[in-house]
Formats: sequence, structure tokens, C-alpha cells
Amino acid sequence: MNAAHRRLRESTGAAHARVDALFSRFDLARRDDYAGLLAAHAEALLPVEALLDQGGGEAITEDWPQRRRTGVIKVDLDALGIHVVAPEIQDSVTSDAAMAGMLYVLEGSRLGGRFLARSVPDSWPRAYLGSHQPPHMWPELLEKLDALLYGAESLELAVSAANQTFGRFEAAGTKWLAKVG
Ligand code: HEM
Repeated sequence: MNAAHRRLRESTGAAHARVDALFSRFDLARRDDYAGLLAAHAEALLPVEALLDQGGGEAITEDWPQRRRTGVIKVDLDALGIHVVAPEIQDSVTSDAAMAGMLYVLEGSRLGGRFLARSVPDSWPRAYLGSHQPPHMWPELLEKLDALLYGAESLELAVSAANQTFGRFEAAGTKWLAKVG
């Protein structure tokens, strides 16, 4: 594991444990819970992807457009008849390091999504949780993050943005779990 990856993983480990525990409480065999999980993810994902679009995510990884999932999550939400109002973006991305931290969290969240997809009945729309990508895309991103985050200051900015991104998922998940529970 490269140095930037190790640091990001260690510094966000507690946040990951919290979102893992939180999203494991949605019972994905129940339609309302599944819809709630997707709505929560959309509420967190859409503004972060918009920030990456604005900030120029391609500067971190040129295949950023292929990694976006705003389109696929909207397909599922439309099919389930759910309308999500994504929070207005109040801030803007100020650095490549911050975008690197965001990308780490968004792309890492696919890894857990694979496990979750197994609990969703086959007949339901699952463009989002089923949006697999070639396995080389995760290690390739980690290599790019390592090349970018070589200084202590940039690594700190990335860690902070990563934790903020986890925080968006945690806040949205808490809200939607209370709604469907
Ligand atoms: C019930 C929900 C979740 C489960 C069960 C879960 C599970 C996992 C598992 C098993 C891995 C390791 C996969 C591998 O190494 O191949 C992983 C990695 C990761 N997950 Fe989750 N996850 C969940 C939710 C999330 C969410 C909501 C996010 C982000 C918003 C997230 C972010 C990450 C990140 C960043 C990694 C990469 C860790 C590393 O650096 O190796 N996960 N997750």
C-alpha cells in the first residue's frame, strides 16, 4: 500500500466504520429501505460530484467523466419514483488535494456497494450499486493520489476533504434511516 493510501485509510477508518454500520441498517430486501439508501447516497454524491466537475476532476484522474455516478443513481431513483433535492453547493473546491480526498471516498464507496448489491432483489433497478468498473481503476486512482499527495500539507488537505465527504454520507444516511425506519 502506498503512503498516501495508507494515511487516507488510517485517518478515515473511524468514519468508514460509522458509515458501514449505518448503511448496514437499511434492510435492502425492503423497497422503502432500498429507496432510502439510494436517496441518502444521492444527497451526498450529487453535490460532491458537482464540486469535482466544477473543480476539474480530470486534473486528478483524466477518466473522471467515466467514474461519475450521478447519471446512474438518477436512473434508479426515477425508476423507484423518488425525487431527491440535492443540497445546494455552498462551497467550491479550492485545491487538487481536496479533490483527491473526495475521489478517494467516492471511488472507495464502490467497493462496499458490491456487497450491498447482493442483498437487493434482482428485479429492482440497481444501476448505481451494480455500476462495476474494471478492477484496475481503483489501484490506478491510488497511484495517482500517491503521486499528487507527496507533501504533508496536501495530504492533510486530502484527509480533511475525505472526512468531510464521509460526513456527508453519514448525515444523509442518518436522515433517511429515520425516515424509512
Ligand atoms: C454497508 C455499507 C458499506 C460496507 C459493507 C462497506 C464495505 C467495504 C469493504 C468490504 C471494503 C474493502 C473492499 C476491498 O478492499 O476490496 C470497503 C472499502 C472502502 N469503502 Fe466501504 N463499505 C460501506 C460503505 C461505504 C461508504 C458509504 C463509503 C463512502 C461514502 C465507503 C468508502 C470506502 C472506502 C474509501 C474504501 C477504501 C478503503 C481502502 O483504502 O482500502 N464505504 N468498504
